[in-house]
Amino acid sequence: MDAFIIHGGKRLRGNLRIHGSKNASLPLMAAALLTDEPVVLRDVPDLSDIQNMCRLLQSIGCTANWRMASAAKNAKPKVITVASPASLTAGGSDNGGVATAVSRKVGAIPRSGSASPIEYGGATADEINELTLHVTDPTSSECDYDIVRTMRASICTLGPMLAKRGYARVSMPGGCNIGPRPVDLHIRGLKALGARISLDEGYIVAEAKRLRGTRVFLGGPFGSTVLGTANVMSAAVLAEGTTIIESAACEPEIEDLARMLNAMGARITGHGSPRIVIEGVDELHGVDHTVMPDRIEAGTYIMAAAVTNGDVVLDNCPVDALTAAIDRLKEVGVEIELPKDDCTQVDRLRETVRVASARRLDPVEVTTQPHPGFPTDLQAQIMALLCLADGNSIITEKIFPDRFMHTAELLRMGANIIRNGPTALVTGVRRLVGAPVMASDLRASAGLIIAGLAARGTTTVHRVYHLDRGYERMETCLQQLGADIERVDRDAS
Ligand code: EPZ
Repeated sequence: MDAFIIHGGKRLRGNLRIHGSKNASLPLMAAALLTDEPVVLRDVPDLSDIQNMCRLLQSIGCTANWRMASAAKNAKPKVITVASPASLTAGGSDNGGVATAVSRKVGAIPRSGSASPIEYGGATADEINELTLHVTDPTSSECDYDIVRTMRASICTLGPMLAKRGYARVSMPGGCNIGPRPVDLHIRGLKALGARISLDEGYIVAEAKRLRGTRVFLGGPFGSTVLGTANVMSAAVLAEGTTIIESAACEPEIEDLARMLNAMGARITGHGSPRIVIEGVDELHGVDHTVMPDRIEAGTYIMAAAVTNGDVVLDNCPVDALTAAIDRLKEVGVEIELPKDDCTQVDRLRETVRVASARRLDPVEVTTQPHPGFPTDLQAQIMALLCLADGNSIITEKIFPDRFMHTAELLRMGANIIRNGPTALVTGVRRLVGAPVMASDLRASAGLIIAGLAARGTTTVHRVYHLDRGYERMETCLQQLGADIERVDRDAS
């Protein structure tokens, strides 16, 4: 089992390109079940969750073919160039903003989004992964427990399979390390569309000859549901008539999914707002879609730069999807140099951003909320940062009230945190001290690595397989920025 060994105290400097988003890719991949034609997805990150989704799709008759990046941009040693404010506002990046040619023949498959080079956020087509999914055998519609239990996003197959094939049998996902994760809202939504749903030996069985459009309310005790919205929206595109989803998730990943579905022939409006309107169509066709950049990966590297008093330039950074995080980080004193706020700018999801911090940070109050609020998936990372702020910070977790497994490990590194239910009081300390710590889930792992980068001495983060679910080659990315971090086989260390 792999572990990371980090010798803390190195200031991060240099450039990094943010990968395509994991949480956007997973429902996009499931949406390939809605058509008999190929779906080409570009910039899909190479992560264990994505590979598990490929396995799952293959098990239900969908082929998955990869063209891996020939020379991954983030893997190449690069000259460190910290862009000047002038070059940043001019849209410059480490490649000088030079347009890199993207001229792929995509045949009859419609492209979703523009075909301009900026689409790849500073990388050429060869430097990003490409995944082609194609349903060739729709006869098996059962998603087995053995794969589903590795990844909750497997539930995303339910809506598309039901809508296209009239039948789906998907193992009920369980809870996980961040707390209970019910799927009642997914089921409520699909039932409203006319599906007959039963539970059979731990499997959700859903049937409907053809779904019918209706009004669906998807609000729950913790707000909207991201994957629930993805599931119901993906099912409603093939329903008869109009569906209105009220209290829909506004997350950027839902917008990305709607963009791709529309390019496949769906008729969705209102995505990005709590009221999504879907006019059902009879069929969808193939598509060539570039996945949006990963806002959580971007936020994580921004915090890693800040905690080490670093100076880092991020390409392909989804600024528009990070407003709340950027607001909190500016409040604590991190310098974030954004491109000129130009309303005519076409793609604020793929920007170049400079992050720097040169002093001890201020404390702040953070409350996680559904988008556009501060994301729960960055809570552990900002907690690690605030452990070193000059005063008391308060973090309240409103999405997953038990998502605090990282606090006990941070305490082992000398942090001062008192937790009371969904709230944590973080009193900043002058320094953290390296220690062996245990990763408990994906984002908790990222928080521990941020703490380790700033700590005095050596931190060993065990069980980084959690991290590999959501961060592509994190150690390589951090090494590229000058961090002293290596992956070891724990048994050999
Ligand atoms: C997505 O999970 C993300 N996963 C999570 O990221 C993220 O933390 C979460 O949204 C919230 O932003 C993916 O996109 C693959 P929800 P999802 O349904 O959709 C309650 C990561 O680290 N709820 O929006 O499963 C639920 O318990 C992962 O990358 C119900 O009550 O989350 C929670 O309190 C972890 N009933 C809240 O809603 C339901 O039927 C939001 O959950 C569904 C959810």
